[in-house]
Amino acid sequence: MTTLIKNINQLVGVREETKLLRGAALAELPIIENAYIIIEDGIIAEYGTMTKFYPAFGGTQFQHTIDATNQFILPAWCDSHTHLVFAASREDEFVDKLKGLSYAEIAAKGGGILNSAAKLNTMSEDELFNISWKRLEEVSKLGTGAIEIKSGYGLSVDGELKMLRVIKKLKEKSRLSIKSTFLGAHTYPLEYKENHQGYIDLIIKEMLPVIAKEKLADYIDVFCETGFFSPEETETICRAGMSYGLKPKIHANQLNLSGGVQVGVKLGAISVDHLETMGDEEIRLLAKASPFGGGLEGATIGTLLPTAAFFLRMPFQPARQLIDASCVIALASDYNPGSSPSGNMNLVIAMSCIQMKMLPEEAINAATINGAYAMELQTELGSITIGKKANLIFTKQIPSLAYLPYAFGNNLIDKVMVSGEFV
Ligand code: NIG
Ligand code: FE
Repeated sequence: MTTLIKNINQLVGVREETKLLRGAALAELPIIENAYIIIEDGIIAEYGTMTKFYPAFGGTQFQHTIDATNQFILPAWCDSHTHLVFAASREDEFVDKLKGLSYAEIAAKGGGILNSAAKLNTMSEDELFNISWKRLEEVSKLGTGAIEIKSGYGLSVDGELKMLRVIKKLKEKSRLSIKSTFLGAHTYPLEYKENHQGYIDLIIKEMLPVIAKEKLADYIDVFCETGFFSPEETETICRAGMSYGLKPKIHANQLNLSGGVQVGVKLGAISVDHLETMGDEEIRLLAKASPFGGGLEGATIGTLLPTAAFFLRMPFQPARQLIDASCVIALASDYNPGSSPSGNMNLVIAMSCIQMKMLPEEAINAATINGAYAMELQTELGSITIGKKANLIFTKQIPSLAYLPYAFGNNLIDKVMVSGEFV
């Protein structure tokens, strides 16, 4: 099937070649004004200016023609860090927090991640799939075309496998590009609170072999944090995952200088995520970091999750310092019931500009092409490039690109296309 989109006010994120963006290059967002795109079988086949379109394709018949007069078209968001599969919301804890309890205090009361795990372990796989499918549909309408989803609310062999099987089914049934991450090491279940080695053994001996056999995950993650998993435990668990071919993407430096960045850099992680708490040493290390296998042109990506910082009233990630130090950064939603009950990437982008002083171009690049790299999807997604999937955001009529983060909270998306079809 061939689709023509014509009269596009601005076609945003047009790149002949795909490069990981860092430093000053993060602010470069190439645009074509008054543009067209041709899509063949869900793939971007051609693009250019309307003045070039008429001589080249003026006489060609297209099966579908879409007029995008007054609209901007951008690559769909690549949300590289979410916990979208969960059983129930936790607004009761939210209210506890309003009354003064801290995140750590709520966790110590058996709330937090353990609360989510208790609910998930009693829910059937089908039910879990159905509610997760709905969330996936919602975020796709908000412009997300590719997404990473983690386990980590099972914390038992059956619960973790159930979550990963749900993610696998989402992958099979959805047109969105999905990556799956095993986060069995999200927190210690109560019965292992004093027996860390027992739970680590369960992860390594009981969970990982099945995950590898059934090909249930692409990545391995650990919540490396004071009171959760130490850097040494993180390294042991990641190395076990790596022996099955799972590359690390690590929850690092959310609440403390936890050593998570150091262990991520040492292991050559694809990304270290959160980074609310960063010292000079962590920034210096991350700027120089390379993943194992060299798959990302020499960078471990720092994935910033500003809506989690916002929701937990934490200091925002030091985006400007990271960009100035030439670290590679991506933006993601962290969609989860405890610290970011929103998967709205438009809000993530607005918040990164408003609170972290990222430029609109930097934020869009960090949420598209760099986000695609953080899921190793850079050859198929993240920019308007011939041969990539037609995952596109059509905006409503807006005066400029900067209007998107500026007019935060407004719904500025008209429609979203995934693999050439509207969601
Ligand atoms: O990324 N920090 C660890 N995990 C999640 C929150 C989990 C929860 O509270 O349910 C996060 O913020
Ligand atoms: Fe997270």
